[in-house]
Amino acid sequence: MATIIDGKALAAKVRERAAAEVAELGGRGISCGLAVVLVGDDQASATYVRSKLRDCEQCGIRSFDYKLPAETSQEELMELIGRLNADEDVTGILVQMPLPAHLDTERVVAAIDPNKDVDGFHPMNMGRLVRGLEGLRPCTPAGIMEMLDEYEIDPAGKNAVIVGRSSIVGKPMAFMLLARNATISVAHSRTDPHELARICQSADILVAACGVPKMIKGPWVKPGATVIDVGMDRDEAGKLCGDVDFDSAELVAGAITPVPGGVGPMTRAMLMSNVVLAAKLQHG
Ligand code: GUN
Repeated sequence: MATIIDGKALAAKVRERAAAEVAELGGRGISCGLAVVLVGDDQASATYVRSKLRDCEQCGIRSFDYKLPAETSQEELMELIGRLNADEDVTGILVQMPLPAHLDTERVVAAIDPNKDVDGFHPMNMGRLVRGLEGLRPCTPAGIMEMLDEYEIDPAGKNAVIVGRSSIVGKPMAFMLLARNATISVAHSRTDPHELARICQSADILVAACGVPKMIKGPWVKPGATVIDVGMDRDEAGKLCGDVDFDSAELVAGAITPVPGGVGPMTRAMLMSNVVLAAKLQHG
């Protein structure tokens, strides 16, 4: 049976490390502050934001909570970002996604000071990642790299397959694994479905980030492979599940992340770690 990668336990360690660094920076007169901007009244987003604010409190990070009405205009939002960029008490800015449809997400993301972009979504940070330079990295793939390191799974020379090509997970994941010398394949919604099983079977490290409940089955997993499940889905019975069919994959994998308790808690914890890094980038 596979080793179950305990994202919850590692997330607690990452938060402790962040809290210690926040205290250390505080001792040098540098305070960490995260501004969280939520536009509209999406319930899931509101829940995510509440947990991020709670994490900040636990780590000794000041937080600034901006709840804006759904009908907020592009100009109003851009004006707020401008003010947060200029505010020295704000060392990190997070705009909760998705934004209401009338707002231009790309313009909003590009307006954030790249050194305060704790989501790592800014084109400058994406460019830094691709070029192998220091910068803020998206939390989900950054958390996955932490899990691989914790469990001493070295990507170097391994075949890594990422299923999904989003800007938030799939693409940055590919470049982070590439930076650690893995051989990368990215499968996506237009990959020949007849090829998909074979591509997955070539993976020593398989990252499922396609958003389709239980799409990756046991027979698609190479014996002994590391399986990382980014999915947060509901199965037919309405029960929380991932993009991997855990019960069948667990029998074949060498190590596997559960849902819940795998990637999710690490994503949250890496945000705290990014708030610390952002403060350091701004204060040298
Ligand atoms: N919505 C869902 N996930 C995320 C995330 O990681 N960051 C932001 N800003 N919004 C999200």
